[in-house]
Amino acid sequence: MFQHRKPLTSPGAAAARWRELLQRRAIPDEIRAAAPKDPSRHDPARFVPPATPQDSPSRRAALQLLGTDGGTVLDVGCGAGAAGLALVPKVSHLTGVDPADDMLRAFEQACEQRGLAHRSVVGPWPQAAGQAGVADVVVSHHVGYNTLELGPFVAALGAAARRAVVVELHAVHPGAWLDPLWAQFHGLRRPPPATADDVLAVFAELGMRPEVQRWTRPAQPRNPEAELDFSLRRLCLPVERRDEVAKAVARLGPRHRDLVTISWSG
Ligand SMILES: C[S@@+](CC[C@H](N)C(=O)[O-])C[C@H]1O[C@@H](n2cnc3c(N)ncnc32)[C@H](O)[C@@H]1O
Repeated sequence: MFQHRKPLTSPGAAAARWRELLQRRAIPDEIRAAAPKDPSRHDPARFVPPATPQDSPSRRAALQLLGTDGGTVLDVGCGAGAAGLALVPKVSHLTGVDPADDMLRAFEQACEQRGLAHRSVVGPWPQAAGQAGVADVVVSHHVGYNTLELGPFVAALGAAARRAVVVELHAVHPGAWLDPLWAQFHGLRRPPPATADDVLAVFAELGMRPEVQRWTRPAQPRNPEAELDFSLRRLCLPVERRDEVAKAVARLGPRHRDLVTISWSG
């Protein structure tokens, strides 16, 4: 699915642009210092895998790679395991990698509930790659925008895959929908968000031509309390501002998600 034309870790203009786009959106120090909770942490409750996985281009791509006989899967940035567990019963063994202990506990619980052989590796990718080993298929959903050094991250995903890698990302930085609320609550104008096109520019710079599918997940009824907690945490606001934030989020309207599935052979 892709050809190497340059060494996979060569830095370049696209990688530098990516880094700069992410760094410019860092939360200002004074706001972060006053935050009641760490705005970069995720609550595992928001990521519990559904009992019946939703069909999606990412799931279909990974199932196709697993084929009729199935195989082993490595889920990088697994959270509570939604990407890997959506492939049951084609997964013979699932390895989850994540730097967050609470996410890994949720991952283990979800695997145990399904009777699935699994292993947890704590640590960030690609540093944890050696411990994680290889698998037939590598999946990584919604981690890329957390990754300053995208080239080494992508290279290590490919190196860990016997067959192929499936990455799922938002088309636009997933924090961008809160930009109007940063202006409202902090008087802060956010710089332009990174997009999947910036990701693909890094792939191109690495000499990779992955398969790309763009699609939309319609707005879904979610747990409104957990979503509100998430918005408060992200905006570095205390619980006393909860009602104001609820109104502001409601004004933003239903949120569909434009997503991108990127796949390439390992
Ligand atoms: C938005 S959640 C997505 C979780 C899961 N993949 C899903 O789709 O439900 C992002 C996850 O990536 C993890 N993460 C962040 N940076 C990471 C890195 N460098 N390597 C591995 N995981 C990372 C976070 O701890 C979090 O669990």
